[in-house]
Amino acid sequence: MDGDIQHRQIEGGETEDRAEVKKLFIKTYGCQMNVYDSERMAEAMGAEGYVLTDTADEADMVLLNTCHIREKASEKLYSDLGRLRPLKTAKPDLKIGVAGCVAQAEGEEILRRMPLVDLVVGPQSYHRLPAMAKAAEAGEKTVDTDFPAEDKFDHLPERRPATRAPTAFLAVQEGCDKFCAFCVVPYTRGSEVSRPVDRVLREARALVERGVREITLLGQNVNAYHGAAADGVWGLGRLVRDLARIEGLERIRYTTSHPNDMAPDLIAAHAEEPKLMPYLHLPVQSGSDRILKAMARKHSAEHYLRLVERIRAARPDMVLSGDFIVGFPGETEADFEATLALIRAVDYGMAYSFKYSARPGTPAAEKPPVPADVADDRLQRLQALLGAQQKACQQGMVGREVQVLFEKPGREPGQMVGKSDYLHAVHVAAPPEARGRIATVRIAASGPNSLAGQVTSPLW
Ligand code: 5AD
Ligand code: SF4
Repeated sequence: MDGDIQHRQIEGGETEDRAEVKKLFIKTYGCQMNVYDSERMAEAMGAEGYVLTDTADEADMVLLNTCHIREKASEKLYSDLGRLRPLKTAKPDLKIGVAGCVAQAEGEEILRRMPLVDLVVGPQSYHRLPAMAKAAEAGEKTVDTDFPAEDKFDHLPERRPATRAPTAFLAVQEGCDKFCAFCVVPYTRGSEVSRPVDRVLREARALVERGVREITLLGQNVNAYHGAAADGVWGLGRLVRDLARIEGLERIRYTTSHPNDMAPDLIAAHAEEPKLMPYLHLPVQSGSDRILKAMARKHSAEHYLRLVERIRAARPDMVLSGDFIVGFPGETEADFEATLALIRAVDYGMAYSFKYSARPGTPAAEKPPVPADVADDRLQRLQALLGAQQKACQQGMVGREVQVLFEKPGREPGQMVGKSDYLHAVHVAAPPEARGRIATVRIAASGPNSLAGQVTSPLW
């Protein structure tokens, strides 16, 4: 019936005619890979007649894209599911799905613990989500936590026209073979797999055609990238250099990197390729060789420090970011002080720090824990040092000219917010037309989490 046909769009995407519009609410927890996966799931469900909505109350389907990295992150799933119970009682047709790393790790157990859940889908099976949603609509419960032989990317729809921002994530690599003693990622995301070069280039070109100016290449171990190409296997350095030739693509970033995979060619790309941004997230976790060994990191503190020297020799203005774990089993005060010493030696512009969280199935979970009050105290001391370094890095930008890519309106009227080359958020007086453009901005002030400045090269 023509009268029933409605037009709908997903993420500003193609308009399609459907007899029925269904609403999908996705909540994303955790890392950037999950943000990317949520976008791809929204696109896959878009082809099935679902449009995104901002609230669970309006939704026909709620999808929770979960994180398993620390205990607190995975507990959030169960408390959020508990909160959805009244909604499901009021709207029995509401379908609830659990995706992501908790889905992978706990599978059927989620259905047993939370009968209101209709489907459980692991990160390698997102291309099967539309079929699972159909089964859910027919009243069937499904669990898919396979690591299928087929590549999910071959079965997901092509990227849709521009998402909200002129920046986008692009997954190039997934999984991890490193097996750090504390980490669930090798179990939830599987072993390292790289997408072939032509697929990555095709997706990048599609994003740029649709208005994207900055691409962040994603992978759990992104610098372990080894993508098949017509002339052999490419590392990340070669991939970056080829991506840089795409006209209209202005900036390239990549995350997260492992110190043992920083190939000379990738370091050289930082010296030679101006589109490769001078910000690098390079987690080290600890500055104590004893703890690094117990963590199975397979590198020493000295190796990391020498690596940082080589990176800074290639790109002297490089802003470094890191991840740290305090209170790993067996960590002594001397070990912790070695971490503080490494942080002082590197001087980070940004960092993330966590209290060790024992994860079921990982080797470190078997070891006796450091007392909670000791770990709390160390985390506070570590964060005080990292916070001071972050503040100094931001303060050091004051008076300098940086390039800012404008992304969205700021808090104040007549203001836009964008990111500098160094990934600092910068607030600037600029018209909405500035969105998607890059301008030179002189930094005038540094606030708690962002900078402010004036445009010195008007582009509009
Ligand atoms: N406990 C605390 N932090 C962890 N991370 C990973 N696993 C754990 C854990 N079991 C941190 C690491 C990693 C980041 C993504 O999360 O620092 O780099
Ligand atoms: Fe986890 Fe990173 Fe270690 Fe892989 S390299 S096991 S993702 S911490």
